[in-house]
This record gives sequence, structure tokens and C-alpha cells, in this order.
Amino acid sequence: MTQPIHPIDVILHKRDGHVLSEDEIRAFIRAIVDRTPTNQLVTDAQIAALLMAVFQRGLDPHELATLTSAMRYSGEIFDATPLHTFTIDKHSTGGVGDKTSLLIAPILAAAGLASPTPAGIPGICVPMISGRSLGHTGGTLDKLETIPGFNTQLTLDQLFLTLEKCGAAMVGQTPHLVPADRILYALRDHTGTVESPFLICASIMSKKLAEDLKALVLDVKVGSGAFMPTYDQSKFLAELMVQTGETSGTRTVALLTGMDEPLGRFSGNWIEVWECIDIMRAQRPQDRHPMSTDLIELSNILSGWMLYLADHAITPEDGAVLSNEYLLSGAAYKAWLKIVATQCGDIAVFEDPAAHHQPTATRTLAATHSGYLANMDCKQVGWAVQRLGAGRAKPGDPVSAHAGIEMHAKLGAEIKLGQPLITLFSEDPDLLDEPEAMLRETLHIASTPPQTQPLIREVIQKK
Ligand code: URA
Repeated sequence: MTQPIHPIDVILHKRDGHVLSEDEIRAFIRAIVDRTPTNQLVTDAQIAALLMAVFQRGLDPHELATLTSAMRYSGEIFDATPLHTFTIDKHSTGGVGDKTSLLIAPILAAAGLASPTPAGIPGICVPMISGRSLGHTGGTLDKLETIPGFNTQLTLDQLFLTLEKCGAAMVGQTPHLVPADRILYALRDHTGTVESPFLICASIMSKKLAEDLKALVLDVKVGSGAFMPTYDQSKFLAELMVQTGETSGTRTVALLTGMDEPLGRFSGNWIEVWECIDIMRAQRPQDRHPMSTDLIELSNILSGWMLYLADHAITPEDGAVLSNEYLLSGAAYKAWLKIVATQCGDIAVFEDPAAHHQPTATRTLAATHSGYLANMDCKQVGWAVQRLGAGRAKPGDPVSAHAGIEMHAKLGAEIKLGQPLITLFSEDPDLLDEPEAMLRETLHIASTPPQTQPLIREVIQKK
């Protein structure tokens, strides 16, 4: 007969630097989700203590894979088997103006609609389960919910039907998917243990793996707007996630990508949807807005990797070319309209997206001298966007559909005195002053051009 596991023993074990057994980890996570108000199998204090022990001691690869798996199976999980497709997703660690999901889902759906290919390669589907804005980073769900009627709260059955019809869906986490993460995350937030790369990895990967993925592409941000403070910490997290994904049988690749300035032209909610509509409707490269170049490039590179992993391209580079073709041919836009309409969104707003942008207060910052846009603290730019009303300071806060910023110059651009640098939008004129001061403080114009960095810094994959 197996001995019962006591939470205190698991805590002491980790506190003292031992490796936890599979049974200990699985029993602890089960106790977290099975407890009731009258049967506290494990208390909040005990969970917090284990989180701190993990924060201090770390986890070895086997413990991390076990924790991720225990969390993944802590509630309902998505079963993609009956779709008979190659299920793939991408995840970004979050950034400012990062709207690649809004382009990648329709690009991959367009590829999925074109399949199965004559060679018999399975079709593709993208069950894109996304999050909300928090802190200095934006959230895909908040952007999508600016489309009148758009429903992000699908059940797993509705998700299945949307995937079957459209090849992609863009939804929020269901209340029953990975419940262990919800409990652990709330306690991490109160106990100074959010930053543990092991806990971040288990949190992200348990939710992604619950989508029943064959492959996953991770966009791990580096630079002043990244979630992790240093390049090495971002790289370490990327390596942990790749190793954990591969151990659980999901082909996983991470790209370390620059977040030294907002991605694309707009940062906010509806204005980011608008930017993506403009990109998907542009039929020629010259119709694309120059400020969207980095966004288009990153979306094509990430989609290219996804198409490559799904066997729809011979190399990731070929995949990026194919992705760009789906954009320019209008196939991605057609797929986008189908996804939005299926999720009850009103596609009539896309006819004139500029008219749907209705901030009540606008202000433009002009350059106070000539030179080159040399650097900025991108996190500070993200916080300015949040203070304009586009983001939230704590979970559950409302967000404004129309607040945000438009960048008029990229890092390295030559700037003339008086030239517009950034336009601020808000739904409340009183919310303009503080973000304006934050942006003025952080944008630096130098007399010589800065050294700019490539968008993709490194690719991490299984050795
Ligand atoms: N995103 C998550 O889902 N979990 C974390 O721990 C950090 C970022």
C-alpha cells in the first residue's frame, strides 16, 4: 500500500534542497485543486511555502516536467484528436504593441483551409488561447473584445466547432482549464514568487500543453520592454520551456526577439486591430504602412516556423515567404473574417476601421531637437499606454477600447526638430498628462545614429 503524502513533508523536502518525487508533486497539485472550504487538504500557507522553496531551490528537468504535467491535467483538457489536423500554437511572453497573434491565427487558418495538401500532409489548426493585458504589456483578448459582439469565452466544445469550421480560434482560458495555475498564480502574486523561471515555465507550458498541441512556437522577448529583466534570464526561460515542451512530446522552438520599442505602429486595443486589418487588406507591399514593417516581419517569421513545423514548408524561411503570400493575396483576411463572424463579431466595423477609433482626447508629442531616435525604456512606454487607460494595473480592472499611442518614428530614424514622435489617445482628457511626461522622459534623441539590433536575436531548439 502506498503511503499518504503530507504537504509539510513535500515542503521540507524542497526547502532542504532535495529532489521531489513524481508522487510528491502530483499529490500536492491534486490536493490544491481537490480541496474544499471544509476540507483543506493543503492550506494557502503551505502552497505559499512550497512556492518559496521552489523559488529558492529551483527544479531539475524531471521535476519541472512533472509539475507542468500535473498542472496541465489538473482540470479539463482540450482533445484535438477528432480534428485529424496538426494542432499548433504560438505564445509570446508579452510586449508593447505585440499584436502578432491577430495576424498569425488567420495566416495559419488560411494555410489550413488550403490543406490537406495534395501530398496528403495533414491540415493545420490553431487553438489560440490567449490572455488579457496586465502591467505594461497588452493582451490579445482585450484587443479582440473591441470588435462589437466578439465572443472570446468559448467552451471547449465551441472551440472545437470553431476550429473545425475556420482552422483557428482566438479565445480565453475556460474556468476549468488548468485550475491549478489560477490558484498558484494568485498566491505567487502575493508572495514575491512570480519571477521564478521554473514557476513561469510550468504556468505557461501547462496551459499551452492543455491545448493538445503537436508543436509550439515561443516568442520570448528580450530588451527593455521584456518581462524578464536580462537577456540571459530570457534565454534561460526559453531553454526551460523548450526542454519541457519536448519532454512532453510537443515539438517546441523558441525565438528570442527584440522588444526595445513598441512593435508596429499602434499600441492599445482597437487601434491594434485596425493596424492588423490594414496589413491584411494591403494587396501590394507598397500599400503597407512603413511603421508596421517590424510587425509584419515578426509575424511572417513566427508563422514561417509554424508552417515549417507543420510540414507545410521545407524551411522556416520558406514558411515566412508563404506566410507573406497569404497576407498579400487576401487569403489571411478572408480567414480572419470567417473566424470573427464565427465568434459572433460584427465584421461591418472593418469596412472603416479609422471611423471606429473614437478617443475623446488626443495629444501629439513633437521632437524638441533634431538628431536620431536613439533609445527608450520600452517598459515605460508600455506603462504610459496602460495609464492612458488601455491596460490594467490589477486583474479585473476595465480597459478602454480607444486609448493608446501611435508611434511616428522607429529607433534609428533621423528626426527633425518639431517632427511628431508619438500621438497619445485617451477616453479621458485628465489621463493625458502623466503618460505624456513619462514618454517625454524616456524618448532619447542623440546626435549620432544608434546601433540597431536585429529583430530575431537567437533561435532555441532541441539539441
Ligand atoms: N504568463 C503566465 O501565464 N504565467 C506566468 O507565470 C508568467 C506569464
